[in-house]
Amino acid sequence: MILSTVIWVLSALAGAVVVGAEKHTVRFDNRCGYGTPHLLKNGAILSQGEEYVSDGSLDSTIAYLQTGNCNLNGEGCTLVEMTLVNPTCPGCGSSVDISLIPPLAFSVSTSFSYFNGCDGQGAVCNSENCTTAFYIPSDNHVQVQCEENNVDLLISFCAEGSSTYVKVDEVVTPPSLSVGAAATRPKTAVMGSTASVPQHPSATSSSHPSATTAASKKKCKKSRSQRRDSVAAKRSESFLKFHRRHAKNRLGSGH
Ligand SMILES: *[C@@H]1O[C@H](CO)[C@@H](O)[C@H](O)[C@H]1NC(C)=O
Repeated sequence: MILSTVIWVLSALAGAVVVGAEKHTVRFDNRCGYGTPHLLKNGAILSQGEEYVSDGSLDSTIAYLQTGNCNLNGEGCTLVEMTLVNPTCPGCGSSVDISLIPPLAFSVSTSFSYFNGCDGQGAVCNSENCTTAFYIPSDNHVQVQCEENNVDLLISFCAEGSSTYVKVDEVVTPPSLSVGAAATRPKTAVMGSTASVPQHPSATSSSHPSATTAASKKKCKKSRSQRRDSVAAKRSESFLKFHRRHAKNRLGSGH
């Protein structure tokens, strides 16, 4: 009796010490003076501007500023696409990007940055020709990945040339983190990207290349570059689903 009680108490204590469950916070900073931030997953609105905390991973989730001109899944507007997940193998962590693949279209300047891990890494898109957004499904270089657990994401609108990042509970603006600026951290690939952006994506937007969707499941023993390609393809696959869903919803809702 006493022994079983001791065992119960010990196991309860052990349970309390076990690392907390996975969660991710998405926070908005809307400086436009208009519009309502929207966070959606599978067509369901998770947030209309208030901070959202996931229970577990947050995959295939989108965000945009509803200005009155965006359809439910962000069509007609600048879209942030995110998968926030604790990595179970190298290269299998979080990935976030900005997309302008038609029918998405630049609406307001949009940026995102990680916090509580990969602090300050992110991307800024300030114009319809920004080099930090998807225009065609193969623009995988614009994805910003993070391999740390329980990372959070700040999404800002109209932050005008500067990304924002969060320290504890305050939103601050670092001195300069502008589009095209030299990367200051090794992982900030997007910020220093000099890749040219296709100006006329419409030709390819209606037929998604199936090659990128042939991406396989996680393979942890690949070389670094193989892994990156694989991750990019995997991200591309999940993000293609966004657009298929967009197309389907558009047809279904009669817009
Ligand atoms: C974006 O690029 C197009 C095509 O080159 C150009 O017509 C347009 O003026 C550009 N927009 C901005 C804001 O630079």
